[in-house]
Amino acid sequence: MSTPKIAIIISSTRQTRFGDKPAQWLAEFAARRSADLAVEVLDLRDYPMPFFDEVASNAWAPSTNEVAQRWQQKVAAFDGYIFVTAEYNRSIPAVLKNALDYAYPEWNRKPAAFLGYGGVGAARAVEQLRLICIELQMAPTRTGVHIQGGDFMAVWREGKPLTELPYLEQNATTMLDELLWWANALKTARTQA
Ligand SMILES: Cc1cc2nc3c(=O)[nH]c(=O)nc-3n(C[C@H](O)[C@H](O)[C@H](O)COP(=O)(O)O)c2cc1C
Repeated sequence: MSTPKIAIIISSTRQTRFGDKPAQWLAEFAARRSADLAVEVLDLRDYPMPFFDEVASNAWAPSTNEVAQRWQQKVAAFDGYIFVTAEYNRSIPAVLKNALDYAYPEWNRKPAAFLGYGGVGAARAVEQLRLICIELQMAPTRTGVHIQGGDFMAVWREGKPLTELPYLEQNATTMLDELLWWANALKTARTQA
């Protein structure tokens, strides 16, 4: 069976966002494991969907919005996802929730892992995101990568390179190991369903 395709999703879209930096760092780190997985960065800026405005979730009725259709086709192409997310008022950015709502069968029976950044490493947002993933019939994994506290301030405000935080690589290794186990298991199971 081919190696799983994993999307790294940048979950904020504002002009001066920080999200690019951890997404790029993670993509480069994960690319070292090209024998195990293929990664691609997905940027929600490339899918400017309106606030959800369909007759129903596409679990029940096909979406009419062309960007939404393009988003659904892109999401469908992956075997697992890593959400790189900020925390906005203790939850996930609204643009990410909207993008999650705009697909349903495309997320089903696939694993999700998380990299959060912010004062508490987006821990509260990631916990909510795990619950959303359950409703989307995904398998959220345990180990997250969290850039938090003084370390977040140093990389966000002072431009400290993420490569100077070695614990991130340790956490990312465990996160990827868990994600790949589920991605391979569920990929096999989906072909037999
Ligand atoms: C609307 C808004 C709400 C925020 N709420 C939180 C929060 O609840 N917890 C937190 O740690 N940081 C919060 N922050 C600070 C973000 O962690 C920080 O601005 C981060 O860079 C946002 O991600 P982005 O740059 O990718 O948009 C908030 C920022 C914004 C813009």
